[in-house]
Amino acid sequence: MEKIKWAVIGTGNIAHTFTDALAADPDAELWAVASRTKEKAEKFAEKYGFRQSYGSYRELAEQSGADVVYIATPMSSHYSDTLLCLKNGINVLCEKTVALNTREFEEMLACVKETGLFFMEAMWMKCRPTYLKAMEWIKQGRIGDVRYIKADFSNYIPFSPESRLFRNDCGGGALLDLGVYPVTLAHSVLGMPDELITEANMGCDGIDLSNHITMRYKDGVFATMDSGFELQLKNNAIISGTEGFITFGNWFHCTETTELYDRNAVLLETSHIPVEVNGYEYEIREVHRCLREELKESPLVTHSDTAEILGLMDKCRQQWGMTFSGRE
Ligand SMILES: NC(=O)c1ccc[n+]([C@@H]2O[C@H](COP(=O)([O-])OP(=O)(O)OC[C@H]3O[C@@H](n4cnc5c(N)ncnc54)[C@H](OP(=O)(O)O)[C@@H]3O)[C@@H](O)[C@H]2O)c1
Repeated sequence: MEKIKWAVIGTGNIAHTFTDALAADPDAELWAVASRTKEKAEKFAEKYGFRQSYGSYRELAEQSGADVVYIATPMSSHYSDTLLCLKNGINVLCEKTVALNTREFEEMLACVKETGLFFMEAMWMKCRPTYLKAMEWIKQGRIGDVRYIKADFSNYIPFSPESRLFRNDCGGGALLDLGVYPVTLAHSVLGMPDELITEANMGCDGIDLSNHITMRYKDGVFATMDSGFELQLKNNAIISGTEGFITFGNWFHCTETTELYDRNAVLLETSHIPVEVNGYEYEIREVHRCLREELKESPLVTHSDTAEILGLMDKCRQQWGMTFSGRE
């Protein structure tokens, strides 16, 4: 069987980490890379052994003949980069947060439908065995009915006006960069809330430096989450139900350990699943599986889940009056 020809667009931090995992996958062929400058693309290609390098994203989309592209650009570029690749016949794995707002994501999905290609948000957390183990425990009723979720993702990141994280025109802010993980965790377990109560500390470029979100559901069930750049938290999560609770290790979205407790806080089971490469191998394998089975979306990261989570984040931003450079 022929290997799957991968392209990478954008050669920043995560592109390196992801490509480390890609290079370790025997089913992946490092086919093409594009940067906004030819020099960066060549350097990246040389480091990993990509066959082709391009000094523009458009050239890669039009000329490379890749099967699938990993889009690793800032949030503000995901919309145009995705449309560019889909319209040139390339399947897409696009980094989180998938788009700036629901309207743009709907257009991306319309293009997915029109082209009949595969599209997935690179929500690697949902492909990781530890996360899947926790979901299995919940499904099996091991913690009874879920009543409460708490999840944090806040890293102390000194202000830098050049960083995409603090720039409105790049789709910056804590919610889209970090908050997407706690919101995704809560949404995975409890679905869409009845009420959203939020607050944010806004930075100078109209982006949130930190935020607190409570999602309320009927019968007093709720999920609460914090994300931000101003403080360091342990970044763990707990999912608690009528019969017990599940804890995640620090940096819950990529932890190797989850624990299952009964309702008296007695430890019942520990799941420890060390990563095989660096944790990104699972989403890569999921893309391969979907492409081989000719699926248009992954059952692990469905289009409708991605859309609902983005819709929740739109609502949070509306409450804070936060828009992205004329793009809602
Ligand atoms: N899954 C994860 O664990 C994870 C972790 C970190 C980040 N991410 C996501 O991955 C994406 C990229 O994050 P990153 O941390 O890798 O960012 P980064 O280091 O700033 O890299 C982003 C790259 O995008 C390209 N780019 C295109 N337009 C740009 C613009 N206007 N300003 C700056 N760069 C631009 C640049 O590559 P060229 O110069 O080569 O064109 C740049 O190196 C984001 O969506 C982020 O949320 C995911």
